[in-house]
Amino acid sequence: MALHIIDHPLVQHKISLMRDKNTGVKEFRELVSETAMFICYEATRDLPLKEIELETPLALAKAKIISGRKLAFVPILRAGLGMIDAVTTLVPAAKIGHLGMFRDAESHKPVKYYSKMPDDIAERDVIIVDPMLATGCTAVAAVKELKNYGVKNIKFMCIICCPEGVETLQTAYPDVDIYAGVMDEKLNEDKYIVPGVGDAGDRIFGTK
Ligand code: URA
Repeated sequence: MALHIIDHPLVQHKISLMRDKNTGVKEFRELVSETAMFICYEATRDLPLKEIELETPLALAKAKIISGRKLAFVPILRAGLGMIDAVTTLVPAAKIGHLGMFRDAESHKPVKYYSKMPDDIAERDVIIVDPMLATGCTAVAAVKELKNYGVKNIKFMCIICCPEGVETLQTAYPDVDIYAGVMDEKLNEDKYIVPGVGDAGDRIFGTK
């Protein structure tokens, strides 16, 4: 069980720009994407390599390429979609599953409304992507759904987490490593992360 906070200065800078309520939709979306790329870079650090031989313009060379394990990204709809361009830019061969969950306004509990995975999802390592790890209930439901598909290796990638969400996910699934750009202070009474960025989905898609 591990929590990885990617506290690179560029990540911190970009998250600060995202927090500003005056940051518009276009810039917010770009910042989500750029930040996701840095976090994905760390979340894929353990990808196995194999050695190949190739010819450079000057010589024969032994070189390393990614090998073996196949990867899938699973964005939690809808806010997770804002991170997908970035992560597939880094790992173009990855497949993508979609998981639609919304938070019931009163109970704050996740409700699944859509799930579509690649046929071979059980043979892939999966990185779930969602910008905010708030209560952790959606993350737990997402991991449960993927385990039901037979997935064995799961990571969770977000931009902002908070102690409650981390605790909930790590307690339910200690085998799931969490990768985040920053750990914020707490949840408010509406279960939003504070200081946070507000509603990430609304800010990515301009729906408010
Ligand atoms: N989802 C969001 O978009 N923002 C939060 O602060 C928590 C959950």
